[in-house]
Amino acid sequence: MARTAPRLDPPRNCPQCPRLVAFRQSARNSFPGWHNAPVPSFGPETARLLIVGLAPGLKGANRTGRPFTGDYAGDLLYRTLIKHGFATGIFDARPDDSLTLIDTRITNAVRCVPPENKPTPAEIRTCRTYLDATIAAMPALEAVVALGRVAHDTMLRTLGAPLSAYPFAHGSAHLIGPIRLFDSYHCSRYNTNTGVLTDAMFDAVFAAVRRTLGPPRV
Ligand code: URA
Repeated sequence: MARTAPRLDPPRNCPQCPRLVAFRQSARNSFPGWHNAPVPSFGPETARLLIVGLAPGLKGANRTGRPFTGDYAGDLLYRTLIKHGFATGIFDARPDDSLTLIDTRITNAVRCVPPENKPTPAEIRTCRTYLDATIAAMPALEAVVALGRVAHDTMLRTLGAPLSAYPFAHGSAHLIGPIRLFDSYHCSRYNTNTGVLTDAMFDAVFAAVRRTLGPPRV
């Protein structure tokens, strides 16, 4: 009997997390022209690199419908990706700018915008179905950058690796089966404004990924 492939992205009206459904509905009422739905992954499934963020920002990815697009965090992320040959074109914080990812896919641990940017453990667990499916559908995957501890922990659970064996630390890289997991502090406005994460620290993570993957594939 033919089996249907699991969904890579939640449906537009995903009902699974009541708190996120209510928040989404209030955003739809207040800002009817915005995306206001789960934000799908961006970039080719054939990529060797996957970047995992936390969740869409209300006025950023939740508004535009593309991960890290319109979010403060996206400015540093996309600038760094272009610098290291993981993206090309112009990033203009709009889904119709000319930015194209190269050998790279971007997703979020939680696909819907959470109140105050804080998904609950239950929401992270529920949304992991889509991370599992996203990873299973990337046959060439070699490297993952986890942006922050939530992304790191959810990736370990997805890979079936014990959390205690692979502690989160900015700049560290963990080999888990065939996947190399690179940790970075999240490139959020809070982390960059407080100096927790500098441009140089973020750059060093993607320089290490580039060394691992070799020259850009165009
Ligand atoms: N926007 C996203 O899409 N993900 C994040 O983690 C932060 C902002």
